[in-house]
Amino acid sequence: MNFSEIAKTRQSCRLFDGTKQVENEKIDVILESARLSPSACNAQPYHFTVCKGEAAKKVAEATRGMGMNKFTEDVPVMIVISEEAYNKTAGIGSKIKDNDYRSIDIGIATAYLTAEASAQGLETCILGWLDDKKIRKICNLNHPVRLVIALGYPKENYELREKKRKSIDELVTVIE
Ligand SMILES: Cc1cc2nc3c(=O)[nH]c(=O)nc-3n(C[C@H](O)[C@H](O)[C@H](O)COP(=O)(O)O)c2cc1C
Repeated sequence: MNFSEIAKTRQSCRLFDGTKQVENEKIDVILESARLSPSACNAQPYHFTVCKGEAAKKVAEATRGMGMNKFTEDVPVMIVISEEAYNKTAGIGSKIKDNDYRSIDIGIATAYLTAEASAQGLETCILGWLDDKKIRKICNLNHPVRLVIALGYPKENYELREKKRKSIDELVTVIE
């Protein structure tokens, strides 16, 4: 798949097959692509904790509540993305320019991770509705949890949805 095909076919999966495990080799490829993503001053201010088995079940439980994310009961792998400290230059740049580069960096790494998962024939759902305290405890983390990525294979009959997005005209302004 080329990148345009990945952009068209990646979608948030909410119908995982809990009986189908994800191959470790594929998880390695996905994490390697996330590792290669760019970040402000190359600070890479994030950490990935891969949760499988019981750990995945516990993290999944910590993403549910108020009717949200019920589908996570069937997710075989949960990748927890926590925010690490800036390096010196990114920290200074962020202060001077009043810009939260860490969130941006985590977003870019997440885009790489989910795009590579699609290229590997896997499905993902980015989860921002999460219980930071609970997940930190499960994963033994000292830093804030920003996102959890649900990863796995879909159930049979899982279908591609039509994308709902703003039009290019709404999104883009060209100034010459
Ligand atoms: C930062 C972020 C947080 C998100 N949190 C959740 C979530 O907690 N639960 C969920 O089902 N989807 C979540 N999503 C998925 C979005 O709803 C989804 O990406 C968006 O509606 C576009 O649909 P698509 O991913 O299928 O193209 C999140 C996406 C992002 C980028």
